[in-house]
Amino acid sequence: MRCHALLLLLPATCAFQLPFRLPFFTRNVTDEDFEQPIPTVKVPRIAIIGAGAGGSSAAFWISKAKERFGLSLEVDVYEREPYIGGRSTTVYPYSNTSLPPLEVGASIFVSANKNLWRASDEFNLTRRVFNTGSQTGIWDGEELLFSFGNGWWDTVKAILRFGISAPKRTDQIVQEAVKKFLNLYTAEAPKWNDVAELAASLDFLEMVQNATADYFRKGGVSNKFASEMIEAATRVNYGQNIDDIHAVGGACSMAATGARGIEGGNFQVFEQFMNRSGANVHLKTAVTSISEVSSPSRHWTIKTSLGSIDYKAVILAAPFHSTGIALPSAIASSIPEQPYVHLHVTLLTTTSPTPNPAYFGLQPGSSVPSAVLTTYEGVRNGRKEPEFNSLSYHGLIREGEWAVKIFSKERLSDEWLNNMFLDKVGWVYRKEWDAYPRLTPTSTFPPVKLGSGFYYVNALEPFISTMETETVASRNVVDLLLNEEFGTGLCPTTSAENRTTSNDKEFVIGWDC
Ligand SMILES: Cc1cc2nc3c(=O)[nH]c(=O)nc-3n(C[C@H](O)[C@H](O)[C@H](O)COP(=O)(O)OP(=O)(O)OC[C@H]3O[C@@H](n4cnc5c(N)ncnc54)[C@H](O)[C@@H]3O)c2cc1C
Ligand SMILES: *[C@@H]1O[C@H](CO)[C@@H](O)[C@H](O)[C@H]1NC(C)=O
Ligand SMILES: *[C@@H]1O[C@H](CO)[C@@H](O)[C@H](O)[C@H]1NC(C)=O
Ligand SMILES: *[C@@H]1O[C@H](CO)[C@@H](O)[C@H](O)[C@H]1NC(C)=O
Ligand SMILES: *[C@@H]1O[C@H](CO)[C@@H](O)[C@H](O)[C@H]1NC(C)=O
Ligand SMILES: *[C@@H]1O[C@H](CO)[C@@H](O)[C@H](O)[C@H]1NC(C)=O
Ligand SMILES: *[C@@H]1O[C@H](CO)[C@@H](O)[C@H](O)[C@H]1NC(C)=O
Repeated sequence: MRCHALLLLLPATCAFQLPFRLPFFTRNVTDEDFEQPIPTVKVPRIAIIGAGAGGSSAAFWISKAKERFGLSLEVDVYEREPYIGGRSTTVYPYSNTSLPPLEVGASIFVSANKNLWRASDEFNLTRRVFNTGSQTGIWDGEELLFSFGNGWWDTVKAILRFGISAPKRTDQIVQEAVKKFLNLYTAEAPKWNDVAELAASLDFLEMVQNATADYFRKGGVSNKFASEMIEAATRVNYGQNIDDIHAVGGACSMAATGARGIEGGNFQVFEQFMNRSGANVHLKTAVTSISEVSSPSRHWTIKTSLGSIDYKAVILAAPFHSTGIALPSAIASSIPEQPYVHLHVTLLTTTSPTPNPAYFGLQPGSSVPSAVLTTYEGVRNGRKEPEFNSLSYHGLIREGEWAVKIFSKERLSDEWLNNMFLDKVGWVYRKEWDAYPRLTPTSTFPPVKLGSGFYYVNALEPFISTMETETVASRNVVDLLLNEEFGTGLCPTTSAENRTTSNDKEFVIGWDC
C-alpha cells in the first residue's frame, strides 16, 4: 500500500505502473496508509454522457492521452440504454443468436473513415463487404424508372439515360470532397471551437451553405442525374431530398463506394473503445441534470439515479435536445433547436426471394431489383409519394429465408408487409429513431464548448452525421478539453523532424501522434 500514498502525491508516475485500479471509493483510507498528513488531493474526474460512437471514442482518446502524458484522471461514462453503441446496434432475427445479427442503425463506413478503419484493424474486427444484392432500382412512387447492376450493360444503360458528363462530374465533386475530408487525419489537422471555422478551414463552406441540388447543378450535374441518382442516395442515407439537404450531406451520401461493415455488428468497435479506455461505464443510468458550481473550486455536478457526483470536466456525447438533461439556462439557450429526421426502420425475414412485382406495376413473375431506392421527383411532377425511402434485401439468414431492411417516414403495417412480400413474412422488428439531423443548408452551428471544461461532441452532427465523424468530433473535444484543463491536449506537439511521418499514408492523428 506504499504506492497508494505515493500515488496521491505523484499521480503521473505511479498510476501507469500498477496493473490494477486503486480502491479509492471502495475502501476507507486511514492514517495508517500515510506517513505524512493526508493531502486532500483527489484524482480529477471527467464525465462522458452517452456511449455511442462519440462517447466511447471520447473515452478512448482520453486513455491515449493518459498514456502519453502520464495523466492521472478517472473517467465515468453514463449511458441510459443497457448497451454500448447508441445508434449503432444489432438485433438477431427471431432473437435467435445462431442466426446472423442485423444492423438496426448505422451500417456502413468507408476506407476514408480512418478512425473506424484503424480501430477495426487494431481490434481484430473483420470488415465485410456490405451486401445489398446485385440489382438496384429507382422507384418514384408510381413507376420503377430505372435499374442497374455492375455489368457492362448496366454502364451502357446508365450512359444512355444520364450521359457521361453527369456521373463523371459527380464523381469529381465527391472525390474532391473526400480529399478535403482527409485533411482531418494529418498532423496538421484543424482544431475547432466552432464548426463553421472547421467548415471554412476544410473549404466546405460553400457546400454546407447550399442545397445538394443547387451545388451539384452549378457543378455541371444534370437535373436528371441529381434527382434520380443523387437523391436516391440522400434518401437512403439521410432520409432527405436534394432540395433540402446541404451538399456536404449530398457528397457524403455519394461517397459510399467500397462500403464496409463490421462482421457481427459495428457496435463492437465502440465496445472495444470503451473497454480499452478503462473508463467506468454506467449503463442504464440516465443523466438528468448538469449544474455548475463555482466554489470552493469550479466544477460540474451531474445528477443521475446514482446520486449527484462532481466532475472537473464534462463531455456531452448525445444530441442535446433528445437527452432530457436540465442544463443551466444560459447554456441550454446557447444550443439551437435541432430537428432530427424521424425514421422508421423495419427489419424482417421473408421466404419470398423478391418483393411483390404487382406493387411495382410489373407482371407477376417478373423480377424486382433486390434494392429499391427512391426519388422525390415523382412528387414534384404531381405523382404519388413513395411509401418508403429504401427497401433492400441483405442476404440469407439461412437457406431459403432472406433478411430485408426498409426505411420509411411512416410505420409500415403488417398488411403492407404481407402484400409486399406475398404473404411470406417470417419475423418482423420495428424501430423508430431520431436518426440524424435535418441537414439544412446553414453556416451556424451549435457551440463545441458549452462552458469551462464542458464540451459538446454532437455539435458536429448538423455538418455531417456519421459514426466516423463522431469519433473525429470527440477527438477534437478531448484535445480542447485536455488542453484547457490539464495543459496537455491529445498529442504532444510534434517536432518538425517527426512531423514528416504525416506524409506517410498510414499516419492517423490521435493514433500515431
Ligand atoms: C437508421 C440509421 C442508419 C444510419 N446509417 C449510418 C451509416 O450507414 N453509416 C454511418 O456512419 N452513420 C449512419 N447513421 C448515423 C450514425 O448512427 C450516427 O451519426 C452516430 O452513430 C452518432 O453517434 P453518437 O455517439 O454521436 O450518438 P448516439 O449513437 O446517438 O449516442 C448517444 C448516446 O447517448 C445516450 N443518451 C442520451 N441521453 C442520455 C442521458 N440523458 N443520459 C445518459 N445517456 C444518454 C443514448 O442512449 C445514446 O446511446 C445512421 C443512423 C441511423 C439511425
Ligand atoms: C468506512 O467509514 C465509514 C464511516 O466512517 C464506516 O461506516 C464504514 O464502516 C467504513 N468502512 C470500512 C470498510 O471500514
Ligand atoms: C435458431 O436458428 C438455428 C439455425 O437456423 C436453428 O437450428 C435453431 O433451431 C433456432 N433456434 C430456435 C430456438 O428457434
Ligand atoms: C489479432 O489476431 C491475430 C491473428 O489471429 C493475433 O495474432 C493477434 O494477437 C490479435 N490481436 C489482438 C489485439 O487481439
Ligand atoms: C452557395 O452559397 C454561397 C453563400 O451562401 C453563395 O455565394 C454561392 O453562390 C452558393 N453556391 C451555389 C452553388 O448555390
Ligand atoms: C473488457 O472486456 C473484458 C472481456 O470482455 C472484460 O473482462 C473486462 O472487464 C472489460 N474491461 C473493462 C474495463 O470494461
Ligand atoms: C521523434 O519521435 C521519436 C519516436 O517517437 C522520439 O524518440 C523523438 O524524441 C522525437 N524527436 C523529437 C525531436 O521530438
